[in-house]
Amino acid sequence: MEFPFDINQLFSERVSVLDQTLVAGRTSTGMPQLQARIATVIDELGRASAKAQQLPASITSASKLQSQRHQLYLLKDGESNGGRGVAVGFLKVGYKKLFLLDRQGVHIEAEPLCVLDFYIAEGVQRHGYGLELFNFMLQHKNLEPVVMAYDRPSPKFQSFLAKHYSLTPSVPQANNFVVFEGFFLNRPVVL
Ligand code: ACO
Repeated sequence: MEFPFDINQLFSERVSVLDQTLVAGRTSTGMPQLQARIATVIDELGRASAKAQQLPASITSASKLQSQRHQLYLLKDGESNGGRGVAVGFLKVGYKKLFLLDRQGVHIEAEPLCVLDFYIAEGVQRHGYGLELFNFMLQHKNLEPVVMAYDRPSPKFQSFLAKHYSLTPSVPQANNFVVFEGFFLNRPVVL
């Protein structure tokens, strides 16, 4: 996704980790114009993600990121667009307290890291960017994908998880979250 400003000036790394402060490295600290541009990038990506998932409204925006304790991993391609760079996609995660049904039908309370939104720009899906971004997040969080929960994973995302991490859905849940085979292993049994 192209923007009428230099993406490399906003995001120095190939993957930037953004949080409530909307700060992507030292360059944007205390610089309102750069922060406004970062907000524009997040808003545009959030809109495109909602459209791709046929959602009535964006679940990712700069203002939502500022008010929630989530983290957004943003992937850029710094060489494209005549060296000004393009935003390739993003992955948003956050901890949620969930009530989940285990294999025995017992409700357990857990607070896993959840994938809340995930989007790679239309023209470059199925090029391995999603995997690069997801692996970056796993390494950054030092987690295996099986211990995470997934908020309404789309068919494309379910296919992605099955292909790259051999994840197959576990017990159907009463909420919108999906957990996969193995999620309940190594968890204390609740009697
Ligand atoms: N149809 C079916 N499966 C797909 C598609 C597609 N159009 N695109 C990607 N996949 C899956 C497949 O398993 C594919 O492997 P294959 O080509 O051998 O079939 C695999 O992803 C490819 O892996 P990557 O290239 O690393 O994935 P990509 O860069 O496309 O990123 C993502 C995956 C984020 C799901 C991307 O396709 C996308 O943005 N889709 C639209 C938005 C979306 O559905 N996001 C998930 C929302 S749910 C949530 O966030 C909790």
